[in-house]
Amino acid sequence: MNREKVLVTGGMGFIGKFLERKILNETDYNITIVDNLSSSVLDEKIANDKRVQFIEEDFSEWALPDNEKYFQIYHLASPVGPVGVLKYKGKIGKIIIEQTYKVAEIAIKMGAKLIDISTSEVYGKNPDDENEGQREDINKVVPPNITVRLEYGVSKLLSEIMLKNLSIDFPLKYNCIRPFNIIGPSQNDELGFVMPRFLRQALSGEPITIYGDGKQKRTFTHVEDLVDGIFMVMESDITGEIFNIGNPRNVISIRELAEKIKEATNSYSEINLVNPKKLFGDEFAEAWNKIPNVDKLVKAVGWKPNWSIDDIISEAAILKQRYLIKT
Ligand SMILES: NC(=O)c1ccc[n+]([C@@H]2O[C@H](COP(=O)([O-])OP(=O)(O)OC[C@H]3O[C@@H](n4cnc5c(N)ncnc54)[C@H](O)[C@@H]3O)[C@@H](O)[C@H]2O)c1
Repeated sequence: MNREKVLVTGGMGFIGKFLERKILNETDYNITIVDNLSSSVLDEKIANDKRVQFIEEDFSEWALPDNEKYFQIYHLASPVGPVGVLKYKGKIGKIIIEQTYKVAEIAIKMGAKLIDISTSEVYGKNPDDENEGQREDINKVVPPNITVRLEYGVSKLLSEIMLKNLSIDFPLKYNCIRPFNIIGPSQNDELGFVMPRFLRQALSGEPITIYGDGKQKRTFTHVEDLVDGIFMVMESDITGEIFNIGNPRNVISIRELAEKIKEATNSYSEINLVNPKKLFGDEFAEAWNKIPNVDKLVKAVGWKPNWSIDDIISEAAILKQRYLIKT
């Protein structure tokens, strides 16, 4: 059988597993997954699928086998999450940039189409820093404040810029995707994502802890809607573009999210405001409002998200522990 082969870096992660299930269901492609399981757990069903080759290895160390040929590459491997990135401080830049460069070289060598999963963190913004005069302070060179989250966001942005510039001199077909707050079953509860934390706290009766005043807004998007968009872009003829993916109809403040989860789980938990820097130190940063415009994606590929925020919360309340995993 001569099936075409897809490479997925970080493919045992939260998003990767949904992506592979979609590829297995909707195409006849074979899939090679390279993942070191640093922030995920093995899905035996995917790993043992006849059309899947699972390689447990750090993508940085992985040697591309001779005669291997991929026609599509999804690059998902990365340190992830507001808490998950903290242990990589000072190294995230190196990790993200080197891996993006490596995956781009493979794509160029094989003529494969590459999707680089970037992040909405590239938009940065810290309202405290507005209207300040320029100073020689290193903290003011790059707005906003220097945190581990900024190192992550800037590295993802630099990856996008590198791909753009590489594509000028080399035959690189690529697109970048900037996901906004993706949620769904089996997200790693240890990486600091808000939805799994609220759910775990609500189910156990512990206080639901809001970082800051809870007025910050997010746009939660179900992981199935995200992978639909990623897949549509990959399967299209489009190259050299950047797309936001997030469901703008699902904008909600963190306070409202806490209240909805509490109600949906019939929880008696209190809702408490906490200062996350007291929990994680000064290098932790909480993002401000994150609301995408997705007109470009809708126009390009006709993407249409199916999951409302209420449907997502209902699913979380029904599936309960299946929404939470630990490594
Ligand atoms: N979840 C979100 O809301 C969100 C938002 C924006 C961007 N992203 C991006 O989406 C991608 C996937 O994130 P996710 O939410 O599925 O997180 P995840 O932690 O569940 O998945 C990342 C996967 O990459 C693997 N990995 C990490 N470093 C590796 C390395 N050096 N070599 C091999 N494998 C490695 C991990 O083991 C994990 O399986 C990441 O690039 C992330 O930056 C996620």
